Amino acid sequence: MNVIVVGSGIGGLTAALHARERGHSVTVVTKGALGDGCTGFAQGGVAGGYGHDDSPALHAADTLAASGGLADADAVDVLVGGARAAIDDLTARGVRFDRSADGALLRGREAAHSRSRIVHSGGDATGAAIASALVAATRTARIDVVENAFLADLEVVDDEIRGVRVLIGGSSSILRADAVILATGGAGRLYAHTTNPEGTTGDGIAAAMRAGAAVADLEFLQFHPTILDAGPPFLVSEAVRGEGATLLDDEGRRFVFESHPDGELAPRDVVARAIARRAARQGAPVRLDATMIGGAALRRRFPTIDRVTRERGFDWSAEPIPVTPAAHYLMGGIVTDVDGRTSITGLFAVGETARTGVHGANRLASNSLLEGAVFGARAAAALELPWPTTVENRAGSPGAVEPAPDDDDSMPFSRSALQHLMWDEVGLIRTPAGLRRAAHTVALWAAQPRPLRSIVDHEDANLLALAGAMTRAALARTESVGSHHLETTTAVLETV
Ligand code: SIN
Repeated sequence: MNVIVVGSGIGGLTAALHARERGHSVTVVTKGALGDGCTGFAQGGVAGGYGHDDSPALHAADTLAASGGLADADAVDVLVGGARAAIDDLTARGVRFDRSADGALLRGREAAHSRSRIVHSGGDATGAAIASALVAATRTARIDVVENAFLADLEVVDDEIRGVRVLIGGSSSILRADAVILATGGAGRLYAHTTNPEGTTGDGIAAAMRAGAAVADLEFLQFHPTILDAGPPFLVSEAVRGEGATLLDDEGRRFVFESHPDGELAPRDVVARAIARRAARQGAPVRLDATMIGGAALRRRFPTIDRVTRERGFDWSAEPIPVTPAAHYLMGGIVTDVDGRTSITGLFAVGETARTGVHGANRLASNSLLEGAVFGARAAAALELPWPTTVENRAGSPGAVEPAPDDDDSMPFSRSALQHLMWDEVGLIRTPAGLRRAAHTVALWAAQPRPLRSIVDHEDANLLALAGAMTRAALARTESVGSHHLETTTAVLETV
């Protein structure tokens, strides 16, 4: 079978390698260089609930609890049940997970996990280790690689995938395939503040929406609580809190316990909102105090964070550092079954691009690399299976574009204006009025004719389509759950 994989993070490259090993002819198409994208930035590790005091059932229970009750239990079972094989597979491909002197995997703790079950590589450089091992494996696996190729559209005839249209160096080409696996990541660049690298503009999800694929849960966008509040966005891993770091207000008090009994290890959405509220109330950033971990342990366990904080003028072994939330991870996406199959025959989606149902309204830390590895391999294995007559769509809906309102009182479109609108109105804390304002403005912008002359133009169109779909999904969900948090009075929001 001719298979095209679009994207080259953990989900895409795992799918590509497994598909090649199963005898398929595989082409990886990627927007930048092979391995660019979010995976390489991941500091958190891979969650695997199979240590001596742990089990997949406990890992599943934590995943479901963090999800606000909205994760699909069967998909979660597939995810946690695949952890050991996924970690073994990555190890076999050259990822050196951190181990104790006797060779056992070292397991760290992160928020909302009831056990220490996160495996890391290079302390806080797990994503970089995975990206480099998978890129090296891909380069030697007789897989065709097309770099700097932008996914312009999916080629779909009668609800069946036929290939992709890509833009390479200004010209458009059609690449034919029997199956396409989308692994283009999420859409963090919709927001003014994000941990995601520049190319994270939702291209795969937007192309799938244009082709009529079902999407769901787009209202669930996770904000990471602790980004260094100095210089360009730089994530300070949740594992630092897992090792005992605390969050302090301007009077040196721990304040997250006021929001949740687990304090700094509460689910991510709770911690992120508590930080945003406290920072707004005190008019200054809150601080992450990691001094109790000690300088030597901080350097050993978190070498990347140690280096970057020092480069930015902080000695975190001696003083708390300023932190603030930023957009981090899209829980929704293209609806798939547990084998990555979408509502379009022959089209698969894996990783952050997919809505597999494993995250619900709030992803558990370090379940995302795991998701890419588990479902990337499953999608490859499903290539040979007969396509089911109906893929179970679990509440998906086609990504329709709504008509624009007639009155145009909005500011002109720019990517920055869109990012600030999404940050202000479709962010950590939302109101019905703010969501309506955002929906109105996005619909006006989307209705304006916009020539697609450059990759940036295409990205902007994708971001606008996703902003519309996310905002409509947020308006449709009238109760707060997980990362979708609604305030019905403006008074509370004004303090944020
Ligand atoms: C982190 O290290 O805090 C990020 C891990 C994740 O996003 O799962």
